[in-house]
Amino acid sequence: MKIPPVKGTRDFYPQEMAVRNFIMEGWKAASIRNGFEEYDGPIFEHLKMYQIKSGQEIVEQLFHLTDRGGRELAIRPEITPTLARMVNQQINALPRPIKWFSIPRLCRAERPQKGRLREFFQWNVDIIDVDDPRADAEVIFTSIDFLRSTGLTTADIQAKISSRRLLAALLRSIGIDENKLESLYALLDKKAKLPCEAFEEMLAKEIPVKDQAERIRDLMEVTTIEDIPRIVHMNEAATAALDELKNVFSLLDLMGISDYCHFDMGIVRGLAYYTGMVFEVHATSGKLRAICGGGRFDNLLKDFGGPSIAATGMGMGDCVLEILLREKGLLTDSLATRMLDYYICCLDDELMSRAIVLTATLRQRGYVVDCVYKISSLGKQLKLASSTNARQSIILGQELIRDNQLVLKDMQSGNQRSIQYDHFLSDLSS
Ligand code: HAM
Repeated sequence: MKIPPVKGTRDFYPQEMAVRNFIMEGWKAASIRNGFEEYDGPIFEHLKMYQIKSGQEIVEQLFHLTDRGGRELAIRPEITPTLARMVNQQINALPRPIKWFSIPRLCRAERPQKGRLREFFQWNVDIIDVDDPRADAEVIFTSIDFLRSTGLTTADIQAKISSRRLLAALLRSIGIDENKLESLYALLDKKAKLPCEAFEEMLAKEIPVKDQAERIRDLMEVTTIEDIPRIVHMNEAATAALDELKNVFSLLDLMGISDYCHFDMGIVRGLAYYTGMVFEVHATSGKLRAICGGGRFDNLLKDFGGPSIAATGMGMGDCVLEILLREKGLLTDSLATRMLDYYICCLDDELMSRAIVLTATLRQRGYVVDCVYKISSLGKQLKLASSTNARQSIILGQELIRDNQLVLKDMQSGNQRSIQYDHFLSDLSS
Protein backbone atom coordinates (compact mmCIF):
# COMPACT_ATOMS: atom_id res chain seq x y z
CA MET A 1 0.00 0.00 0.00
CA LYS A 2 1.41 3.37 -1.02
CA ILE A 3 0.67 6.16 1.45
CA PRO A 4 0.97 9.69 0.02
CA PRO A 5 2.51 12.59 1.96
CA VAL A 6 0.10 14.72 4.01
CA LYS A 7 -1.41 17.72 2.18
CA GLY A 8 0.54 20.93 2.77
CA THR A 9 3.74 19.21 3.92
CA ARG A 10 7.07 18.90 2.12
CA ASP A 11 9.65 16.16 1.73
CA PHE A 12 13.19 17.47 1.75
CA TYR A 13 15.28 15.37 -0.62
CA PRO A 14 18.97 16.31 -0.45
CA GLN A 15 18.55 19.00 -3.12
CA GLU A 16 15.66 20.65 -1.25
CA MET A 17 17.53 20.19 2.00
CA ALA A 18 20.48 22.10 0.55
CA VAL A 19 18.14 25.03 -0.22
CA ARG A 20 16.63 24.85 3.28
CA ASN A 21 20.10 24.85 4.82
CA PHE A 22 21.16 27.77 2.63
CA ILE A 23 18.21 29.81 3.91
CA MET A 24 18.69 28.77 7.52
CA GLU A 25 22.40 29.47 7.49
CA GLY A 26 21.61 32.96 6.18
CA TRP A 27 19.05 33.46 8.96
CA LYS A 28 21.52 32.30 11.61
CA ALA A 29 24.33 34.46 10.29
CA ALA A 30 22.09 37.56 10.22
CA SER A 31 20.87 36.83 13.78
CA ILE A 32 24.40 36.48 15.09
CA ARG A 33 25.58 39.58 13.17
CA ASN A 34 22.83 41.56 14.88
CA GLY A 35 23.60 40.30 18.38
CA PHE A 36 20.88 37.65 18.92
CA GLU A 37 21.27 34.35 20.83
CA GLU A 38 19.52 31.14 19.78
CA TYR A 39 16.77 29.39 21.80
CA ASP A 40 14.09 26.78 21.14
CA GLY A 41 11.08 25.25 22.88
CA PRO A 42 8.90 22.15 22.50
CA ILE A 43 6.92 21.51 19.32
CA PHE A 44 3.71 21.20 21.28
CA GLU A 45 2.30 23.22 24.13
CA HIS A 46 -0.95 23.35 26.10
CA LEU A 47 -3.77 24.30 23.74
CA LYS A 48 -4.73 27.27 25.88
CA MET A 49 -1.35 28.92 25.19
CA TYR A 50 -2.67 29.86 21.79
CA GLN A 51 -6.18 30.67 22.95
CA ILE A 52 -4.99 33.40 25.31
CA LYS A 53 -3.77 36.06 22.94
CA SER A 54 -2.90 34.90 19.44
CA GLY A 55 -6.33 35.71 17.96
CA GLN A 56 -9.15 33.84 16.30
CA GLU A 57 -7.34 33.11 13.01
CA ILE A 58 -4.53 31.18 14.69
CA VAL A 59 -6.99 29.30 16.94
CA GLU A 60 -8.93 28.14 13.87
CA GLN A 61 -5.70 26.87 12.31
CA LEU A 62 -4.47 24.80 15.25
CA PHE A 63 -3.54 21.16 14.97
CA HIS A 64 -4.66 19.96 18.38
CA LEU A 65 -4.59 16.66 20.18
CA THR A 66 -5.53 15.18 23.52
CA ASP A 67 -2.84 13.15 25.24
CA ARG A 68 -3.50 9.98 27.24
CA GLY A 69 -3.86 12.00 30.41
CA GLY A 70 -6.66 13.99 28.79
CA ARG A 71 -4.51 17.11 28.40
CA GLU A 72 -5.46 19.33 25.47
CA LEU A 73 -2.33 20.11 23.47
CA ALA A 74 -1.56 21.88 20.20
CA ILE A 75 1.37 21.73 17.79
CA ARG A 76 2.97 25.16 17.79
CA PRO A 77 1.61 27.47 15.05
CA GLU A 78 4.08 30.19 16.18
CA ILE A 79 6.80 30.43 18.80
CA THR A 80 5.98 33.82 20.33
CA PRO A 81 3.73 32.40 23.11
CA THR A 82 6.49 29.87 23.95
CA LEU A 83 8.97 32.75 24.09
CA ALA A 84 6.69 34.63 26.51
CA ARG A 85 6.28 31.49 28.65
CA MET A 86 10.02 30.76 28.72
CA VAL A 87 11.01 34.33 29.55
CA ASN A 88 8.38 34.59 32.30
CA GLN A 89 9.56 31.30 33.77
CA GLN A 90 13.09 32.63 34.38
CA ILE A 91 12.42 36.32 34.46
CA ASN A 92 14.67 37.00 37.44
CA ALA A 93 17.55 34.83 36.23
CA LEU A 94 17.81 36.01 32.64
CA PRO A 95 20.11 38.93 31.89
CA ARG A 96 18.13 41.66 30.19
CA PRO A 97 17.60 43.03 27.62
CA ILE A 98 16.97 39.73 25.92
CA LYS A 99 17.81 39.37 22.24
CA TRP A 100 16.86 35.88 21.12
CA PHE A 101 16.34 34.15 17.80
CA SER A 102 14.90 30.79 16.86
CA ILE A 103 14.07 28.82 13.71
CA PRO A 104 11.13 26.61 14.73
CA ARG A 105 9.21 24.17 12.56
CA LEU A 106 5.58 25.29 12.80
CA CYS A 107 2.21 23.83 11.78
CA ARG A 108 -0.95 25.65 10.83
CA ALA A 109 -4.01 23.92 9.40
CA GLU A 110 -4.33 26.49 6.61
CA ARG A 111 -5.66 25.85 3.13
CA PRO A 112 -2.37 25.12 1.32
CA GLN A 113 -1.62 27.69 -1.39
CA LYS A 114 1.33 29.42 -2.99
CA GLY A 115 3.67 30.40 -0.16
CA ARG A 116 1.39 29.00 2.55
CA LEU A 117 1.74 25.43 3.77
CA ARG A 118 0.62 23.41 6.75
CA GLU A 119 4.17 22.87 7.95
CA PHE A 120 6.92 25.44 7.51
CA PHE A 121 9.99 26.96 9.12
CA GLN A 122 9.92 30.43 10.56
CA TRP A 123 12.86 32.59 11.60
CA ASN A 124 12.04 34.61 14.71
CA VAL A 125 13.99 37.48 16.23
CA ASP A 126 12.71 39.17 19.37
CA ILE A 127 13.98 41.86 21.71
CA ILE A 128 12.57 41.90 25.23
CA ASP A 129 12.77 44.69 27.79
CA VAL A 130 13.71 47.54 25.49
CA ASP A 131 10.87 50.03 25.65
CA ASP A 132 12.37 52.19 22.94
CA PRO A 133 11.79 52.53 19.16
CA ARG A 134 15.44 51.51 18.74
CA ALA A 135 14.43 47.90 19.35
CA ASP A 136 11.63 48.15 16.76
CA ALA A 137 14.03 49.64 14.22
CA GLU A 138 16.59 46.94 15.01
CA VAL A 139 14.07 44.16 14.36
CA ILE A 140 13.22 45.70 10.97
CA PHE A 141 16.92 46.23 10.26
CA THR A 142 17.74 42.59 11.05
CA SER A 143 15.05 41.37 8.63
CA ILE A 144 16.29 43.66 5.86
CA ASP A 145 19.91 42.84 6.68
CA PHE A 146 19.23 39.17 5.96
CA LEU A 147 17.11 39.83 2.85
CA ARG A 148 19.78 42.16 1.47
CA SER A 149 22.42 39.49 2.06
CA THR A 150 20.57 37.15 -0.31
CA GLY A 151 20.89 39.71 -3.11
CA LEU A 152 17.37 41.19 -2.88
CA THR A 153 17.30 44.94 -3.43
CA THR A 154 14.85 47.84 -3.04
CA ALA A 155 13.58 46.88 -6.50
CA ASP A 156 12.46 43.51 -5.12
CA ILE A 157 11.22 44.09 -1.58
CA GLN A 158 9.80 46.75 0.70
CA ALA A 159 9.10 46.94 4.41
CA LYS A 160 5.62 48.36 5.05
CA ILE A 161 5.40 49.90 8.49
CA SER A 162 2.61 51.23 10.66
CA SER A 163 1.56 51.33 14.31
CA ARG A 164 -1.23 49.55 16.17
CA ARG A 165 -0.90 52.12 18.92
CA LEU A 166 -1.52 54.90 16.40
CA LEU A 167 -4.40 53.04 14.78
CA ALA A 168 -5.99 52.36 18.19
CA ALA A 169 -5.70 56.03 19.17
CA LEU A 170 -7.20 57.15 15.85
CA LEU A 171 -10.05 54.63 16.04
CA ARG A 172 -10.81 55.76 19.59
CA SER A 173 -10.85 59.37 18.45
CA ILE A 174 -13.38 58.36 15.77
CA GLY A 175 -15.48 56.99 18.64
CA ILE A 176 -14.98 53.26 18.11
CA ASP A 177 -15.83 51.21 21.15
CA GLU A 178 -12.88 49.64 23.02
CA ASN A 179 -14.31 46.11 22.74
CA LYS A 180 -14.65 46.47 18.96
CA LEU A 181 -10.94 47.13 18.40
CA GLU A 182 -9.71 43.54 18.23
CA SER A 183 -12.25 42.33 15.66
CA LEU A 184 -11.74 45.52 13.70
CA TYR A 185 -7.98 44.91 13.54
CA ALA A 186 -8.65 41.44 12.13
CA LEU A 187 -10.92 42.94 9.46
CA LEU A 188 -8.58 45.81 8.55
CA ASP A 189 -5.70 43.34 8.30
CA LYS A 190 -7.64 41.48 5.61
CA LYS A 191 -8.61 44.61 3.66
CA ALA A 192 -5.90 44.30 0.99
CA LYS A 193 -6.79 40.65 0.37
CA LEU A 194 -10.57 41.20 0.10
CA PRO A 195 -12.58 42.46 -2.88
CA CYS A 196 -13.77 46.04 -2.24
CA GLU A 197 -17.47 45.18 -1.88
CA ALA A 198 -16.79 42.29 0.50
CA PHE A 199 -14.72 44.60 2.71
CA GLU A 200 -17.44 47.29 2.65
CA GLU A 201 -20.05 44.75 3.64
CA MET A 202 -17.99 43.38 6.50
CA LEU A 203 -17.09 46.86 7.70
CA ALA A 204 -20.77 47.89 7.71
CA LYS A 205 -21.57 44.82 9.77
CA GLU A 206 -18.76 45.53 12.22
CA ILE A 207 -19.37 49.30 12.44
CA PRO A 208 -23.04 50.02 11.77
CA VAL A 209 -22.68 53.80 12.36
CA LYS A 210 -22.23 55.06 8.79
CA ASP A 211 -20.17 58.13 9.65
CA GLN A 212 -17.70 56.07 11.67
CA ALA A 213 -17.34 53.47 8.90
CA GLU A 214 -16.76 56.30 6.41
CA ARG A 215 -14.02 57.81 8.58
CA ILE A 216 -12.33 54.44 9.00
CA ARG A 217 -12.32 54.03 5.23
CA ASP A 218 -10.77 57.52 4.79
CA LEU A 219 -8.19 56.70 7.42
CA MET A 220 -7.19 53.48 5.71
CA GLU A 221 -6.66 55.40 2.47
CA VAL A 222 -4.00 57.68 3.96
CA THR A 223 -0.71 57.21 2.11
CA THR A 224 1.75 59.39 4.02
CA ILE A 225 2.36 59.98 7.72
CA GLU A 226 1.99 63.72 7.15
CA ASP A 227 -1.57 63.26 5.87
CA ILE A 228 -2.84 61.67 9.08
CA PRO A 229 -3.42 64.89 11.06
CA ARG A 230 -5.30 66.29 8.04
CA ILE A 231 -7.76 63.39 8.03
CA VAL A 232 -8.32 62.69 11.72
CA HIS A 233 -8.48 64.75 14.86
CA MET A 234 -5.20 64.17 16.69
CA ASN A 235 -5.74 63.73 20.41
CA GLU A 236 -2.81 63.41 22.81
CA ALA A 237 -2.52 59.63 22.49
CA ALA A 238 -2.54 59.80 18.68
CA THR A 239 0.11 62.52 18.65
CA ALA A 240 2.38 60.49 20.96
CA ALA A 241 1.91 57.35 18.84
CA LEU A 242 2.59 59.30 15.65
CA ASP A 243 5.80 60.78 17.12
CA GLU A 244 6.92 57.31 18.16
CA LEU A 245 6.37 55.97 14.65
CA LYS A 246 8.23 58.93 13.12
CA ASN A 247 11.06 58.11 15.49
CA VAL A 248 11.21 54.53 14.12
CA PHE A 249 11.52 55.96 10.60
CA SER A 250 14.33 58.35 11.67
CA LEU A 251 16.21 55.43 13.20
CA LEU A 252 15.78 53.36 10.04
CA ASP A 253 17.20 56.30 8.15
CA LEU A 254 20.23 56.41 10.50
CA MET A 255 20.66 52.67 9.96
CA GLY A 256 20.83 53.29 6.22
CA ILE A 257 17.78 51.31 5.13
CA SER A 258 15.19 54.04 4.62
CA ASP A 259 15.02 53.15 0.92
CA TYR A 260 13.47 49.83 1.91
CA CYS A 261 10.99 51.33 4.39
CA HIS A 262 7.58 52.82 3.71
CA PHE A 263 4.66 53.89 5.84
CA ASP A 264 1.53 51.85 5.11
CA MET A 265 -1.67 52.39 7.09
CA GLY A 266 -2.96 49.06 5.77
CA ILE A 267 -0.48 47.05 7.85
CA VAL A 268 -2.45 46.00 10.92
CA ARG A 269 -1.27 42.36 11.36
CA GLY A 270 -3.57 39.43 12.01
CA LEU A 271 -2.31 38.41 15.45
CA ALA A 272 -4.12 39.93 18.39
CA TYR A 273 -1.16 40.71 20.66
CA TYR A 274 0.51 43.61 18.82
CA THR A 275 0.47 46.93 20.68
CA GLY A 276 2.80 49.33 18.84
CA MET A 277 4.88 49.40 15.66
CA VAL A 278 3.77 46.73 13.18
CA PHE A 279 5.45 45.83 9.90
CA GLU A 280 5.55 43.37 7.05
CA VAL A 281 8.06 42.90 4.26
CA HIS A 282 6.48 42.29 0.86
CA ALA A 283 7.78 41.61 -2.62
CA THR A 284 7.33 44.77 -4.70
CA SER A 285 5.53 42.74 -7.37
CA GLY A 286 2.68 42.49 -4.84
CA LYS A 287 1.65 39.04 -6.03
CA LEU A 288 3.05 37.09 -3.08
CA ARG A 289 1.94 37.05 0.53
CA ALA A 290 4.11 38.71 3.18
CA ILE A 291 7.71 37.52 3.41
CA CYS A 292 7.76 38.37 7.10
CA GLY A 293 5.81 40.23 9.71
CA GLY A 294 6.09 41.40 13.26
CA GLY A 295 5.84 44.27 15.66
CA ARG A 296 5.73 45.36 19.26
CA PHE A 297 3.85 43.20 21.76
CA ASP A 298 4.24 44.93 25.11
CA ASN A 299 1.40 43.09 26.90
CA LEU A 300 2.12 39.47 25.99
CA LEU A 301 4.38 38.62 28.91
CA LYS A 302 1.83 40.10 31.31
CA ASP A 303 -1.00 38.22 29.57
CA PHE A 304 0.94 35.03 30.25
CA GLY A 305 1.10 35.76 33.95
CA GLY A 306 4.46 37.54 33.98
CA PRO A 307 5.50 41.12 34.65
CA SER A 308 4.71 43.96 32.31
CA ILE A 309 7.78 43.97 30.07
CA ALA A 310 8.17 45.53 26.63
CA ALA A 311 8.80 43.23 23.65
CA THR A 312 9.16 43.50 19.90
CA GLY A 313 10.04 41.01 17.18
CA MET A 314 9.24 39.38 13.89
CA GLY A 315 8.76 36.05 12.10
CA MET A 316 9.87 35.17 8.55
CA GLY A 317 8.69 31.96 6.88
CA ASP A 318 10.78 29.97 4.41
CA CYS A 319 8.04 29.44 1.76
CA VAL A 320 7.41 32.88 0.24
CA LEU A 321 11.10 33.65 0.65
CA GLU A 322 12.12 30.62 -1.39
CA ILE A 323 9.62 31.42 -4.16
CA LEU A 324 10.91 34.99 -4.37
CA LEU A 325 14.58 34.00 -4.35
CA ARG A 326 13.88 31.57 -7.19
CA GLU A 327 11.90 34.15 -9.15
CA LYS A 328 14.81 36.59 -8.88
CA GLY A 329 17.39 33.98 -9.86
CA LEU A 330 19.05 34.19 -6.45
CA LEU A 331 18.69 30.48 -5.71
CA THR A 332 20.32 28.10 -8.09
CA ASP A 333 19.43 24.45 -8.25
CA SER A 334 23.10 23.65 -8.10
CA LEU A 335 23.55 24.24 -4.37
CA ALA A 336 25.86 21.40 -3.42
CA THR A 337 24.31 18.68 -1.29
CA ARG A 338 27.79 17.49 -0.29
CA MET A 339 31.35 18.41 -1.10
CA LEU A 340 34.15 15.89 -0.56
CA ASP A 341 37.84 16.53 -0.16
CA TYR A 342 38.63 13.03 -1.45
CA TYR A 343 36.78 10.22 -3.17
CA ILE A 344 38.63 6.93 -2.98
CA CYS A 345 38.45 4.68 -6.05
CA CYS A 346 39.57 1.08 -5.75
CA LEU A 347 40.37 -1.03 -8.81
CA ASP A 348 41.15 -4.35 -7.20
CA ASP A 349 39.33 -6.52 -4.65
CA GLU A 350 42.66 -7.19 -2.99
CA LEU A 351 43.01 -3.45 -2.18
CA MET A 352 39.60 -2.89 -0.64
CA SER A 353 40.81 -3.26 2.95
CA ARG A 354 43.57 -0.69 2.24
CA ALA A 355 40.92 1.63 0.80
CA ILE A 356 38.89 1.22 4.00
CA VAL A 357 41.95 1.98 6.16
CA LEU A 358 42.85 5.05 4.07
CA THR A 359 39.27 6.33 4.25
CA ALA A 360 39.21 5.97 8.04
CA THR A 361 42.67 7.59 8.39
CA LEU A 362 41.70 10.61 6.29
CA ARG A 363 38.35 11.01 8.08
CA GLN A 364 40.15 10.89 11.41
CA ARG A 365 42.40 13.69 10.22
CA GLY A 366 39.30 15.80 9.53
CA TYR A 367 38.95 15.38 5.77
CA VAL A 368 35.57 14.84 4.11
CA VAL A 369 35.99 11.49 2.42
CA ASP A 370 33.97 8.76 0.80
CA CYS A 371 35.00 5.49 -0.77
CA VAL A 372 33.55 3.24 -3.44
CA TYR A 373 31.57 0.20 -2.16
CA LYS A 374 31.95 -2.04 -5.20
CA ILE A 375 34.76 -2.60 -7.67
CA SER A 376 33.82 -1.37 -11.14
CA SER A 377 35.61 0.30 -14.06
CA LEU A 378 37.67 3.41 -13.31
CA GLY A 379 35.36 5.46 -15.55
CA LYS A 380 32.33 4.46 -13.47
CA GLN A 381 34.10 5.21 -10.22
CA LEU A 382 35.25 8.63 -11.41
CA LYS A 383 31.66 9.40 -12.36
CA LEU A 384 30.63 8.57 -8.80
CA ALA A 385 33.44 10.82 -7.57
CA SER A 386 32.13 13.72 -9.71
CA SER A 387 28.60 13.22 -8.39
CA THR A 388 29.88 13.77 -4.84
CA ASN A 389 31.59 17.04 -5.84
CA ALA A 390 34.95 15.59 -4.75
CA ARG A 391 37.86 17.94 -5.20
CA GLN A 392 40.26 15.04 -5.70
CA SER A 393 40.03 11.33 -6.35
CA ILE A 394 42.53 8.87 -4.92
CA ILE A 395 42.92 5.86 -7.17
CA LEU A 396 44.16 2.64 -5.61
CA GLY A 397 45.26 0.20 -8.32
CA GLN A 398 48.18 -1.86 -9.60
CA GLU A 399 50.74 0.88 -8.65
CA LEU A 400 49.87 0.37 -5.01
CA ILE A 401 50.50 -3.37 -5.20
CA ARG A 402 53.67 -2.92 -7.29
CA ASP A 403 55.29 0.29 -5.95
CA ASN A 404 53.17 1.36 -2.95
CA GLN A 405 51.99 4.36 -4.96
CA LEU A 406 48.55 5.87 -5.30
CA VAL A 407 47.22 8.13 -8.07
CA LEU A 408 45.86 11.53 -7.12
CA LYS A 409 43.45 13.05 -9.63
CA ASP A 410 42.32 16.67 -9.52
CA MET A 411 38.66 16.48 -10.46
CA GLN A 412 38.43 19.97 -11.86
CA SER A 413 41.48 20.07 -14.13
CA GLY A 414 41.62 16.32 -14.75
CA ASN A 415 45.38 16.35 -14.02
CA GLN A 416 46.73 13.36 -12.22
CA ARG A 417 49.98 12.29 -10.61
CA SER A 418 51.39 9.30 -8.79
CA ILE A 419 52.68 9.66 -5.25
CA GLN A 420 54.13 7.31 -2.66
CA TYR A 421 51.39 6.21 -0.24
CA ASP A 422 53.49 7.22 2.81
CA HIS A 423 54.48 10.58 1.30
CA PHE A 424 50.85 11.34 0.55
CA LEU A 425 49.96 10.81 4.23
CA SER A 426 52.96 12.70 5.58
CA ASP A 427 52.33 15.63 3.17
CA LEU A 428 48.79 16.14 4.47
CA SER A 429 48.48 19.27 6.53
CA SER A 430 47.03 17.54 9.58
P1 HAM B 1 2.74 35.68 11.26
O1 HAM B 1 2.40 36.91 10.48
O2 HAM B 1 1.62 34.78 11.62
O3 HAM B 1 3.51 36.19 12.57
O4 HAM B 1 3.83 34.87 10.48
C1 HAM B 1 5.03 35.48 10.09
C2 HAM B 1 5.51 34.90 8.78
O5 HAM B 1 5.52 33.48 8.85
C3 HAM B 1 4.63 35.20 7.57
O6 HAM B 1 4.92 36.47 7.05
C4 HAM B 1 5.05 34.07 6.64
O7 HAM B 1 6.33 34.34 6.07
C5 HAM B 1 5.25 32.92 7.59
N1 HAM B 1 4.04 32.06 7.63
C6 HAM B 1 2.95 32.19 8.40
N2 HAM B 1 2.06 31.22 8.15
C7 HAM B 1 2.60 30.44 7.18
C8 HAM B 1 2.21 29.25 6.48
N3 HAM B 1 1.05 28.64 6.74
N4 HAM B 1 3.04 28.73 5.55
C9 HAM B 1 4.24 29.33 5.30
N5 HAM B 1 4.66 30.43 5.92
C10 HAM B 1 3.87 30.99 6.85
C11 HAM B 1 3.90 35.36 13.59
O8 HAM B 1 3.89 34.16 13.54
C12 HAM B 1 4.47 36.11 14.78
N6 HAM B 1 4.58 35.17 15.89
C13 HAM B 1 5.79 36.73 14.41
C14 HAM B 1 6.39 37.49 15.56
C15 HAM B 1 7.50 37.16 16.26
N7 HAM B 1 5.92 38.63 16.05
C16 HAM B 1 6.70 39.00 17.04
N8 HAM B 1 7.65 38.12 17.19
